[in-house]
Amino acid sequence: MIRKGIILAGGSGTRLAPTTHSVSKQLLPVYDKPMIYYPLSTLMLADIADILIITRPEEQRLFEALLGDGSRWGISISYATQSAPRGIAEAFIIGEDFIAGEAVALILGDNIYYGEGFGRMLRQAARMEYATANLFAYYVKQPEDYGVVEFDESGAVVSIEEKPETPRSSYAVTGLYYYDSRVCDMVRSIEPSARGELEITSINQAYLNEGGLRVNVLGRGVAWLDMGTHESLLDAGNFVATVENRQGLKIACPEEIAFRRGLIDAAQLEQLAADMPGSDYGRYLAALRNTESAYLSDEVPASPRDVAGKGPK
Ligand code: DAU
Repeated sequence: MIRKGIILAGGSGTRLAPTTHSVSKQLLPVYDKPMIYYPLSTLMLADIADILIITRPEEQRLFEALLGDGSRWGISISYATQSAPRGIAEAFIIGEDFIAGEAVALILGDNIYYGEGFGRMLRQAARMEYATANLFAYYVKQPEDYGVVEFDESGAVVSIEEKPETPRSSYAVTGLYYYDSRVCDMVRSIEPSARGELEITSINQAYLNEGGLRVNVLGRGVAWLDMGTHESLLDAGNFVATVENRQGLKIACPEEIAFRRGLIDAAQLEQLAADMPGSDYGRYLAALRNTESAYLSDEVPASPRDVAGKGPK
């Protein structure tokens, strides 16, 4: 069972210059909330409540000012720094004390996941049944920009390659990874790549070689977005705005997830709303306790009849 998670929110944000000269990419707004709320919400949906956030040293205090120790959302957040972008897998060296020999999830700070059934898939995979590593793959138009996973006819994983010139499939490895308790040993066994980074793909390759790697394919009803460029940042913001304004429900609202998953009670939720007077976000939180949770949680209601007439007003 996975109970701990790391959010990797370092990197130099080069492609977003000059915006990222003075502020971390993962603190930039994606429509109505900071980017880091999205991966944080993903971990919370997986029932992971012990979280380490890795940032650039100079930005750690900004993340702390935003998120604190997590207690107001019923979770624990601690912080560590990465002095230079030496690779995604370095998270397991930096986070070794936090991991303390347990299984762990890693999510990239610029990844958004959204879709029906996704929370259930996350929690199911977090049990780590029959797997030493769990990845999440997504069909994309430009797989050459990502780690690419190839399946055989039976659905078994055949290969994983980082940004191949000639991709063997259209399935990208997304920025969410679950590993068993040996991941800190695994990272010591890999070598930096030609670009000088400890590649997450090398860790995945090591688990694949062992035979314990599972890949969960996200269906076409799920959205997976990452944000490295101005264009993709704007696309993500527009996506969130479109869905939220149509439904009147928020994507990746940590307070809502904390409330619906029982991490905080209605009185705590009310206090969080009161802390944001005059904002739409605060008004949304204030109204949440009156919406019928059978429709809005990602658990399947017992039957449509049970919830008939109880939808959000
Ligand atoms: O988004 C999924 C992809 O993420 C995977 O398909 C690839 O296999 C994986 O290598 C990675 O590719 P990217 O090209 O997106 O990696 P990038 O170097 O842009 O890093 C992703 C995020 O992680 C970025 O927001 C910055 C952060 N990062 C990256 C590195 C290398 C760090 O915080 N520290 C680092 O050392």
